[in-house]
Amino acid sequence: MSSLKIRIYGDKVLRAKGADVTEFGSELVPFLDQMVETMLVEGGVGLAAPQVGVSKRIAIVNPEPKNDETLITMINPRIVAVSSETTSFEEGCLSVPDIRGNVIRPTSIEVAYHDGEGREHRVEIDGIVARIIQHEVDHLDGVLFVDRLSLATKALIRTKLRQLLHGNNRET
Ligand code: CO
Repeated sequence: MSSLKIRIYGDKVLRAKGADVTEFGSELVPFLDQMVETMLVEGGVGLAAPQVGVSKRIAIVNPEPKNDETLITMINPRIVAVSSETTSFEEGCLSVPDIRGNVIRPTSIEVAYHDGEGREHRVEIDGIVARIIQHEVDHLDGVLFVDRLSLATKALIRTKLRQLLHGNNRET
C-alpha cells in the first residue's frame, strides 16, 4: 500500500465539484484504504478525495487518526441541517500547508451519508467532528477553508497563498 500525493492550493481539482459515487463495495475498498493511509502519513484528521486528485464525493474523518474505531467514511455526504449557534475555531488543511486561520461554522450539524458498503446513515454531530465534516464537505464542493476566513485574515495570508500558487505552477 502506498500513500497518495496531496494536491496543493492552486491545483484545479481542488476547485471542482466532486461527482456522486454510484458504485459501492469492493471497487471502493482499495481507494478508501489508500485515503486512510495518506491521512495517517500526512498527519491529518480528515481527507477528501479531491485532495488526492479524485473528483468524487468521498471523505474520511478521524479526530484520533491512530484509532480505527473513530474513523468515519463518508460517501456522498450531505449536510441536511445546521444549528443557528456557531463556533469559531482555528483550521488548517493538508492542501494549504503552513496556513491556519479561524473559521466560523455552525456548532452542530445533521449529516446524511453512505458508508463504504453503501449503507445509509443520518446522524447529529457536534464538536470537533462536526467541524471536520463541514471542512471536508466543503472540499467536495471545491471550497477551501481559506475562502471562509475574515477579510483581515485573508489580507494577512495573501502573500503565502501566492507563494503556494507559484510553487504549484512550477511543478505542473
Ligand atoms: Co482540507
